Amino acid sequence: MFKGFSRRQLAKLAAWSALGASTASAKAGPTRSGEPKASVVSGFPKGFLWGTATSAYQVEGAVRADGRGPSIWDTFAHTPGKIVDRSNADRASDHYHRYKEDVQLMKAMGAKAYRFSIAWPRVFPDGAGEPNPKGLDFYHRLVDECLANGIEPFATLYHWDLPQVLQDRFGGWESRDTAKAFGEYAGYVAERLSDRVTNFFTINECGRFVEAGYGGGPDAPGLNLAQNRVNQVRHHVALAHGLAVQAIRARGRTGTKVGPAENIVVCVPAIETPANARAAEIATREMNAGYLTVILEGKYTDAFLAYAGANAPTYTTDDLKIISSPVDYVGINVYTPHYYVTAADDAHGFAVLPMPASFPHTSSPWHKIGPEALYWAPRHVAKLWNPKAIYITENGTSAADEPVAGGNVYDLDRIVLLRSYLTQLQRATSEGVPVRGYFLWSLLDNFEWTDGLDKRYGLYRVDFETQRRTPKLSVSFYREVIARNALA
Ligand code: BG6
Repeated sequence: MFKGFSRRQLAKLAAWSALGASTASAKAGPTRSGEPKASVVSGFPKGFLWGTATSAYQVEGAVRADGRGPSIWDTFAHTPGKIVDRSNADRASDHYHRYKEDVQLMKAMGAKAYRFSIAWPRVFPDGAGEPNPKGLDFYHRLVDECLANGIEPFATLYHWDLPQVLQDRFGGWESRDTAKAFGEYAGYVAERLSDRVTNFFTINECGRFVEAGYGGGPDAPGLNLAQNRVNQVRHHVALAHGLAVQAIRARGRTGTKVGPAENIVVCVPAIETPANARAAEIATREMNAGYLTVILEGKYTDAFLAYAGANAPTYTTDDLKIISSPVDYVGINVYTPHYYVTAADDAHGFAVLPMPASFPHTSSPWHKIGPEALYWAPRHVAKLWNPKAIYITENGTSAADEPVAGGNVYDLDRIVLLRSYLTQLQRATSEGVPVRGYFLWSLLDNFEWTDGLDKRYGLYRVDFETQRRTPKLSVSFYREVIARNALA
């Protein structure tokens, strides 16, 4: 917590910076396939890709192995007072050493894909310059193991573990040099892995780490910059995304695919009337103006620039071209509805309703339970920007996950939540919204950033003393969903 705001609330506040008059672009929307056929009443499209997700710093451990350099999260987690339970990720879920066992856990569930992230400081301990082949070797082994077991690897290039040296040298994302270094790193990885990894995501959740890391929130590197500098940081992150897309196109194999993985600010019509649905769509475009919108449209919206005023980022038209380099898909992390909106007869075209204090949430207080977020988020993306494909790159929940006698974990709260969210996703795919896959967060209990080891999101419970993995009941639930390719 900082200034009384959680990191999620800060991300929401940042989204407010986009509020203002504007008209959404009128592009083609999802093709409605008419009445759902009997076979798709609870089913997902043929070939739908069911997967799970993790991130390097949260699961790997082995922070000093094979020449890995320190990241801003190593420094931060070892700073007294930053992590709620005083833990760190030096060992985390020991995925670095147990990846073979973990791939078997995925296989046992019938998962078809694995979204993991690559630790930049393993590959370039110095942020740029001389690569560390031993660091990349881990990902060669992991990718080979996935493929040998019929699991398609999806690699995210940045999930917040910035090499500390870039923070020290350039002020991290405050500098364009970090964006350039990211492009170099992305090209290098694509060159070496794209013979076996077809799908890459550039940056995980700009909307979270920019505000929570540089804008006074509780995450690494723990800075509280003025708004103009935060806006510039966000611009550099968008630029880094674009430079990475270009580098992957230039140095990856033909056919390599790439897109962002963003925690889209989700705007939901409070009551599902056509007018409110349109208002929620306009709100989505504005609330995501600083990242997804500029990536997918190649410009900052008028309302974003008007609101930012003197705090607007400095940029060139060339920057905008790079940022909006065409992507193959849009990845969105969807946990929660950020705003419920109604239509408004004013310049904004939408009004945001206040959230009641009694709104239900999971064991993570920021995580308000609103399953329809998983319908509206991809539907808005499809209507606003008409991407070729959409992936749900994260969805899931923390839960108490206490084992009962005998060691079983009956995480019924997770199952109920997943079922209700997936029902909404099924509604979207049955209407023709082009969602191609879903990555459940997370395969394993892991290091949950400032919550430490305290919040459990895994399908498998991890005993952090012994590193023993125990399937929770939700493994059986997810296995059933995957096997049926339908709700269970
Ligand atoms: C997403 C992140 O924001 O949500 C994950 O991409 C994270 O890395 C997950 O673990 C849960 O968030 P939190 O704030 O509860 O740790």
